[in-house]
Amino acid sequence: MRDESAEAVPSVPWWRSAVFYQVYPRSFADSDGDGVGDLGGLRDKLGYLELLGVDALWLCPVMRSPMADGGYDVSDPRDIDPLFGGIATLDEVIAEAHDRRMRVVMDLVPNHTSDQHPWFRAALAAGPGSPERARYLFRDGRGPNGDAPPNNWPSIFGGPAWTRVREADGRPGQWYLHIFAPEQPDLNWENPEVAADFEQAMRFWLDRGVDGFRIDVAHGMAKPAGLPDMAGLDTRLLSHNDDDPRFNNPGVHQIHRRLRKVMDEYPHAVAIGEVWVDDNTRFGEYVRPDELHMAFNFRLAETPFRVDRIRDAVDNSLNAVAAVGASATWTLSNHDIEREVTRYGGGAAGQARARAMILLELALPGAVFVYNGAELGLPNVDDLPDAALRDPVWERSGHTQRGRDGCRVPLPWEGERSPFGFTTGTPWLPMPPAWAQLTVEKQLERLDSMLSLYRMAIELRVVRPEFAGPGLEWYGSPPGCLAFRRDGGLLCVLNATDSAILLPAGDVVLASAPITARKLPANSTAWLV
Ligand code: GLC
Repeated sequence: MRDESAEAVPSVPWWRSAVFYQVYPRSFADSDGDGVGDLGGLRDKLGYLELLGVDALWLCPVMRSPMADGGYDVSDPRDIDPLFGGIATLDEVIAEAHDRRMRVVMDLVPNHTSDQHPWFRAALAAGPGSPERARYLFRDGRGPNGDAPPNNWPSIFGGPAWTRVREADGRPGQWYLHIFAPEQPDLNWENPEVAADFEQAMRFWLDRGVDGFRIDVAHGMAKPAGLPDMAGLDTRLLSHNDDDPRFNNPGVHQIHRRLRKVMDEYPHAVAIGEVWVDDNTRFGEYVRPDELHMAFNFRLAETPFRVDRIRDAVDNSLNAVAAVGASATWTLSNHDIEREVTRYGGGAAGQARARAMILLELALPGAVFVYNGAELGLPNVDDLPDAALRDPVWERSGHTQRGRDGCRVPLPWEGERSPFGFTTGTPWLPMPPAWAQLTVEKQLERLDSMLSLYRMAIELRVVRPEFAGPGLEWYGSPPGCLAFRRDGGLLCVLNATDSAILLPAGDVVLASAPITARKLPANSTAWLV
């Protein structure tokens, strides 16, 4: 572990323009043959991530959990689940990552716990009106026998957001709120014990050497007074909308200001919030100087491969943070979102567009988040057998929505057949045979692979002075194309049309497709200086 306190804190924090690599630990690499990725697997592959050139790792939750939602249901926030290798293995990951000059950011889940957390078990046992229940959101039901839920809120994963419990006398009793699965009861952030415990967890990990946190559902936590019914009920699953009373309530900012005070005791560390808020002003509120350092902006991940929409997403993402002096974040995909190769149409065109978009993204000012497997150009796996599906959305939607497993299939490392070096056992989700062409081993050998493109692009972004400066300026470009120049002089040109265009003057330092006679092919991006 490093003693950061002795180091001077640089004027430009490391995270402002860092490339973060998101590790979904279940799917990254398995070291013990149980078919589920773990921290030992990650430790063994740190050399790969160093070679890729990323500055920091974001680990999806590895705390103790019954895994009802892939670890986002935490039963002990101050321990590592044995499935992932226990706390000693996390210490090794942190130490080795630091030796290789990579930072480590952990995922923390403040909005809810697991239903197996000792607090929730105690709440069930203690009964209505008890201090134990006051840590969660228990309410009496509506109707004569209290057998209707306290309000009409749906759960994000399908079905109602309330579950009724049995009281000690065996009778149906109160209801508890769970915006996600029933195994994820929402905490009551108006209870000071809840904040105090979360702060203790933050200090626990920061003292162990982690470099910050990704804060799950950072626009959740605060609930509207009286938990009123939702008007214009939005029952789409996994959806986001600014008028949703379940999220983005003003009280959330008081919570972030409190958590920021803890972060400020560890000046090298960063807190990045998952904030699904569209309105730029309201989004910007989360990254005011006394709240989160950064927040995920999902506009690019929600944007089709169309230049008007891409330009709009870039402008809006920059505008949202400019007013409060924060830096932008960019992300094309994560463990909740369909993989970009598939989103952009799949096949050769999907690959070409994903190549074009990573060059666009890495040319932008701010922090970039790469989801594991994106650097291999993995597509979504949309034909997983029903029996393999693990996302609670599948069950909760009554088997009408397949959920997010398709973007969580394990990474192919080497060899010709599944499990492609991911595990010596049976992978927790089946891996497509066609991924033999997408293994790390094969892609390292080829200069024209997605992996080589990522490596070259990340390296150039670090070493070239043309990437300097916080701003960008749009350039005139033919219809269906866009071009911008960074303060430092980098020119990024994207061609989203079906035919090649002539590049402007300048030296091409990298392109997502081969350039001949200064022509930038369809579905591609070039960097010029
Ligand atoms: C966040 C996570 C998602 C999880 C949910 C509930 O949106 O990214 O994977 O299911 O929170 O914790």
